[in-house]
Amino acid sequence: MPLLELKGITRQYKSGQIRVDALKDITLTVEQGDFISIMGPSGSGKSTLLNVIGCLDRPTSGTYELAGQRVERCSDSRLADIRNRFIGFVFQSFHLLPDLDAQANVELPLIYRGMGGRERRRRAVAALEAVGLAERRRHRPSQLSGGEQQRVAIARALAGEPAVILADEPTGALDSRSGRNIMAIFQRLNREQGLTIVQVTHEDNIARHGHRVIHLLDGEMEREETLEQSLVAWREEAAVSLQPEVQEK
Ligand SMILES: Nc1ncnc2c1ncn2[C@@H]1O[C@H](COP(=O)(O)OP(=O)(O)OP(=O)(O)O)[C@@H](O)[C@H]1O
Ligand SMILES: [Mg+2]
Repeated sequence: MPLLELKGITRQYKSGQIRVDALKDITLTVEQGDFISIMGPSGSGKSTLLNVIGCLDRPTSGTYELAGQRVERCSDSRLADIRNRFIGFVFQSFHLLPDLDAQANVELPLIYRGMGGRERRRRAVAALEAVGLAERRRHRPSQLSGGEQQRVAIARALAGEPAVILADEPTGALDSRSGRNIMAIFQRLNREQGLTIVQVTHEDNIARHGHRVIHLLDGEMEREETLEQSLVAWREEAAVSLQPEVQEK
């Protein structure tokens, strides 16, 4: 059973007389352990597709199965439940709370889930270690570089032990070195933990860190590329180490 299965998905937005077909007949299967990049020009439907996959939005028509469950029919509360259990989100602008240190930011969603303090701390420290930031766990976002803030956001997503990480332009706000660092982390999580990743990006050299690249155009799936493993492996070797970055100003 595939982890995600979308069939004939459409999403229409209506405002007054104007109808926008943001997604048209998208059929996509994502297996556990896939690392997929979604590319396409601005307005082509990338974020809309990621939001449907992440159960933040519902399709207008079509069917979507996540881990064997028919998502498009679920109630809002059931949808929120599925989202919490299966999905870890990473956004372009990090979405960290400025008054909380890195560890508290990572723990926050676990508090909302009602998890006890000891388990919360264990998961937060493990997740921060996985992104190479254990030593920075008492730093607030303003005391971290952009790349480090994104790594905290990845740790926050990981701490929920999701089945899939969904990342909308995760390197969009970062310089190229920090961006490569984020890709190195994604590749390691994908390869060593079998974590499924779906990312949206404008940048070809970021997209090429995945195994498959899906090209959207005007809400349609224009084409799909499968990348050679040798290229993927080469990228991994070229990836930089995961020490804390020098503070960028
Ligand atoms: N809430 C909304 N109401 C109406 N139209 C919307 C809404 N959200 C998105 N759209 C439209 O749907 C289309 C796809 O938008 P989407 O945000 O998915 O594009 P994108 O590929 O992520 O673009 P970008 O690269 O600029 O982030 C666009 O034409 C957009 O204007
Ligand atoms: Mg977008």
